[in-house]
Amino acid sequence: MHAHRAALLHCLADPRVVGIERSCQYFEDGLLLVEDGKVAQIGDAASLLPTLPAEVEVVEHRDALIVPGFVDTHIHYPQMDVIASYGTQLLEWLETYTFPAEGRFADPEHARAQARFFLEELLRNGTTTALVFATVHPQSVDAFFEEAQRLDLRMIAGKVLMDRNAPDYLRDDAASGYDESKTLIERWHGKGRLHYAVTPRFAPTSTPEQLELAGRLLREYPGLYLHTHLSENRAEIEWVKELFPERKHYLDVYDHYHLLGARSVFAHGIHLCDDECRRLGESGSAVAFCPTSNLFLGSGLFDLARLEGHGVRVGLGTDVGGGTSFSQLQSLNEAYKVLQLQGQQLDPLKALYLATLGGARALYLDEQIGNLQPGKDADFVVLDYKATPLLARRLEQARSLEEKLFALMILGDDRAVKETFAAGRSVHRRES
Ligand code: GUN
Ligand code: ZN
Repeated sequence: MHAHRAALLHCLADPRVVGIERSCQYFEDGLLLVEDGKVAQIGDAASLLPTLPAEVEVVEHRDALIVPGFVDTHIHYPQMDVIASYGTQLLEWLETYTFPAEGRFADPEHARAQARFFLEELLRNGTTTALVFATVHPQSVDAFFEEAQRLDLRMIAGKVLMDRNAPDYLRDDAASGYDESKTLIERWHGKGRLHYAVTPRFAPTSTPEQLELAGRLLREYPGLYLHTHLSENRAEIEWVKELFPERKHYLDVYDHYHLLGARSVFAHGIHLCDDECRRLGESGSAVAFCPTSNLFLGSGLFDLARLEGHGVRVGLGTDVGGGTSFSQLQSLNEAYKVLQLQGQQLDPLKALYLATLGGARALYLDEQIGNLQPGKDADFVVLDYKATPLLARRLEQARSLEEKLFALMILGDDRAVKETFAAGRSVHRRES
């Protein structure tokens, strides 16, 4: 057993449901007890310290705030080297930058080196769980899971299914995509803290046969995820209409093949009709809000209030490399602005909820992660109130916790992450 002493903050429920006051728990001088990779206890240092056996090591973090590890509900590990590519919107961006970069993952050594760097980058940014696109190559999934397993991280990933409208070197076919997914599911799903996601890229790059088989996989193995893209870009939506003229809207393509439900996560969902919002909500599906990507690719503005009004589970995603930062603090910075443009406010505690417990709930992992309640995985981040001169200066003038949290999400990024813990072990420590 060991303990961490610092200010502690975590969410207990959605502020939208219980109100801001009751949504979180804060200990100004708190203690977090960790045993066997799980949270054993959390509370005020003054009351818990006298109860600890003498041999328990207590690590003190000064000028710091401990929060749960961030959850990224949509990211592409093979697109790390595509980040910050100039000048295009979605469909041209895929052809020009993304497909060539993904082609290189046929080489397992390339995939391994990329997976290693990618996971380090997530941890440097305080993200301890992510829902991750690999590439069409099964070896890209093996490389990713092997590296995640080495660090004992809770991660979700899957092989991309893509049997049309993509370059030859990135295409599978309906049968091989199904067979290869099955092999990977049996190898990785439920191993340690790893989970598998059936991953058709998006409707335009799968034939009806492939989507049918994706649905079959979901029925064959319990607890699988479905991970894809939905209604991100206007030209994409027109293309879906041409390819599937018999379906009433974009979401109906996925619905027709039985791909909606608990653990189905749709990235973006920007341009949706009421019927699509309703079906997402009633089916228990989730949508990943990816603000840095939506702005960078010029896709549009995500309407959080509308989706939540329909009872849709919403998580936060970086969508690297369409997105421009691995930092969920930076995603929140951009989320705040996306909502401002629509007359909506993102309260700092709601923002923390989206990056932690809300993401966990979108992934149906809120029994395991998302906050620091006893019994949950000890995945947490130590944020540094003095990470930069400007942040230190601004925080000195902040009077309330909310003000501090807001400044952290607007001014903070990887520099604000002093240390990251996964299953109770330190997996990243910032230099200096
Ligand atoms: N739609 C289909 N593929 C992709 C992708 O790789 N990134 C984004 N942002 N949208 C997509
Ligand atoms: Zn994406």
